[in-house]
Amino acid sequence: MLHLLNHPLGAHILTHLRDRTTKPATFRTLAYQVSLLLALEATRDLATRDHLIDTPLEASIGRVLARPLAVVPILRAGLGMVQPFTDLFPNVSVGYVGLERDHVTAVARSYYQKLPPLAGKRVIVVDPMLATGGSAVQALDVLRAEGAEELVLVCIVSSPEGVRTVEAAHPSVPIFTAALDRELNAKKYIVPGLGDFGDRLYGT
Ligand code: PRP
Ligand code: URA
Repeated sequence: MLHLLNHPLGAHILTHLRDRTTKPATFRTLAYQVSLLLALEATRDLATRDHLIDTPLEASIGRVLARPLAVVPILRAGLGMVQPFTDLFPNVSVGYVGLERDHVTAVARSYYQKLPPLAGKRVIVVDPMLATGGSAVQALDVLRAEGAEELVLVCIVSSPEGVRTVEAAHPSVPIFTAALDRELNAKKYIVPGLGDFGDRLYGT
């Protein structure tokens, strides 16, 4: 269920995101752009239904989105991926799951949660980095427990280990990513990766 973004613009944006000389303002723009490409991929199969309208010339049956959508960023870095979804889907509900990895153990700790009703919606979890997969699995666990039936995970850079961990815990959840990198280093950072996404997004 791994979907790798296959677009030359995606590769171009990713190269500049990875570049250590890219400054936060540019980094935020690039994060927006690649997330927009990923948002389109992750919603390619959304259901639509008939909708009757009057064009200036005659009555016509078009198609509109059939089901509501929710996007849930994993704080804080996931916030950098939300705007493409709110731009493309103005009626999207936004929920928040706050998780922070411990610097020594790399195990994520939950510190915040605020969710809209999830039943009946496609719930898209956004987190730029899928490293050990611990944060993503925790977030998906919470969302399932809160009633989400149809979950999708969207990441910018993923590791093979993170993908395996999510697939083992949530085999029905499709993962959309712009890059599948080589491995994790001893500190559980993705390599080649792009470093700490949250720090680079917010200049911390
Ligand atoms: C980063 C990233 C993911 C997590 C991935 O967040 O945004 O949420 O690490 O790592 P994992 O797959 O090993 O769990 P971090 O915990 O650094 O918090 P931040 O977003 O506040 O910077
Ligand atoms: N979080 C990040 O921001 N980067 C990594 O490589 C791993 C976790």
